[in-house]
Amino acid sequence: MNNNSHKVLFACSEIAPLIKTGGLADVCASLPMALRRANTDIKIALPGYKAVLEQIDDINFICMLDLPLGAVAICQCSIDDTDLLLICHPVFSNRAGNPYMSDDDRGWPDNPMRFALFSQAVTELSVNPVYLNWTPDLVHCHDWQTGLVPALLALHNPRPATVFTIHNLAYQGNIMHNHYAELGLPAALFHANGVEFWGQASYIKGGIAYADRVNTVSPRYAEEIQTDAFGNGLDGLLRSRQARVSGILNGIDIDEWNPATDTHLPANYSTKDLSGKQKNKAELQKRMGLPISPNTLLFGVISRLAEQKGIDVIVDAIENSDTLNYQLVVLGSGETDLQNRLNTLQQEHPEHVAVSIGFDESLSRLIEAGSDVFMMPSRYEPCGLNQLYSLRYGTLPLVTRVGGLVDTVTDYNNNNQDEANGFMIDETSPEALTDGINRALALYADKKTWKKLQQNGMASQFSWDISASLYLQLYNAAIGDAALANEQIRHAKLSS
Ligand code: ADP
Ligand code: GLC
Repeated sequence: MNNNSHKVLFACSEIAPLIKTGGLADVCASLPMALRRANTDIKIALPGYKAVLEQIDDINFICMLDLPLGAVAICQCSIDDTDLLLICHPVFSNRAGNPYMSDDDRGWPDNPMRFALFSQAVTELSVNPVYLNWTPDLVHCHDWQTGLVPALLALHNPRPATVFTIHNLAYQGNIMHNHYAELGLPAALFHANGVEFWGQASYIKGGIAYADRVNTVSPRYAEEIQTDAFGNGLDGLLRSRQARVSGILNGIDIDEWNPATDTHLPANYSTKDLSGKQKNKAELQKRMGLPISPNTLLFGVISRLAEQKGIDVIVDAIENSDTLNYQLVVLGSGETDLQNRLNTLQQEHPEHVAVSIGFDESLSRLIEAGSDVFMMPSRYEPCGLNQLYSLRYGTLPLVTRVGGLVDTVTDYNNNNQDEANGFMIDETSPEALTDGINRALALYADKKTWKKLQQNGMASQFSWDISASLYLQLYNAAIGDAALANEQIRHAKLSS
């Protein structure tokens, strides 16, 4: 390890493949690996969920931490040669289900306590070297679940630098003020410039207000969240911190997501020989109970079933159409109302629509590989990974003109076949989506141009290496900011 390398504690609430509800888990698995390749000394902190502990054989107890919200055990294991610190407490280790919800899809009522406890543990490990014999220069936090960490660290001097990455501004971790007080969280942070948000306490606001640097996962979303339309009430604060807010596009793990080697696929393929893609299409149609039809355009969707993703608009568009001359495969889990609407659609159009409700990694790979078009009519999209996986798998994305989708997809417009890699619609509406579907159907008849667009997508460079170097620049800036803040506070204390 280079002596000049930074020590970074990376704090997150999910990490693939151990525990995953969405793209956050993919990023928190692959970004640390890219940072390590760039010589960063990195440790990852994750709650010790039941599902995670069940998957790890070799785990070492490090120490106990006595925190205001309870005693936690810190355990350590190694994943891909990186230290993973598991923050263990019964509120994590005794629960089945995903990180935030029970198996019957109900959010754990004590989530504010659980992630405050996690944040207290991360804070303590960051400022007190006795436990790990290692002190981070910087703590990198992700989303509301870790938003309290920069706020809690601001109460320490000296403290490490902090970077807060917003993956989704709509999920904020807001709680009533009396709940905040009952949890014994610091009153000193509860004010208009701190975690206070319209009388409530907001965990994500803690991250945005106190981190040395704030970033989000695409340049376009970094601009959007500073507007009223996409700011979720935090656009004013984000504008006031404009000089510290930036966007870094997510990368993908190009070894993990590679159609030439993906072991989940019945047939592998590459840009040079796309024939395997047809075999995956046939297998997908068979597995989902659709007619096996090589020349019918097949749209794929893999998604959290949430308002963000525009799934309702997909259902509306199909319900409004007179004839269906394409197939649609949907894999998703989430809101019950959307599940019901999708199931009804499948019953009404069994020859054209196939739905699988649940979280299924293997089927998701087959959909990426076997579909012709990946449909993603999101209302907003901080980055989006599925369109990146689709590009890599030769599946043309059909996306809305928002967020990271703008930064990664180039709309086909009849005379840009050397650059285009997909289709873009201007808004999340049934009419706009129908228009996009029709444009895809029209181009599908032109096999040569279609193949060119597939090849453009497959040649796109979305590896993490470029983004990781931008994160290193951000880390340097944050470390400079923190050094200044530590010095100013030390002087103020000396002279008072
Ligand atoms: P978001 O994080 O907003 O859900 P992304 O496009 O960034 O959206 O990432 C979604 C990730 O989660 C992708 O890796 C996608 O394949 C995966 N995913 C979403 N829903 C499912 C599901 N039902 N089964 C398997 N994988 C899923
Ligand atoms: C969030 C966003 C998604 C992004 C992912 C990873 O879940 O909704 O757009 O790709 O985080 O950063």
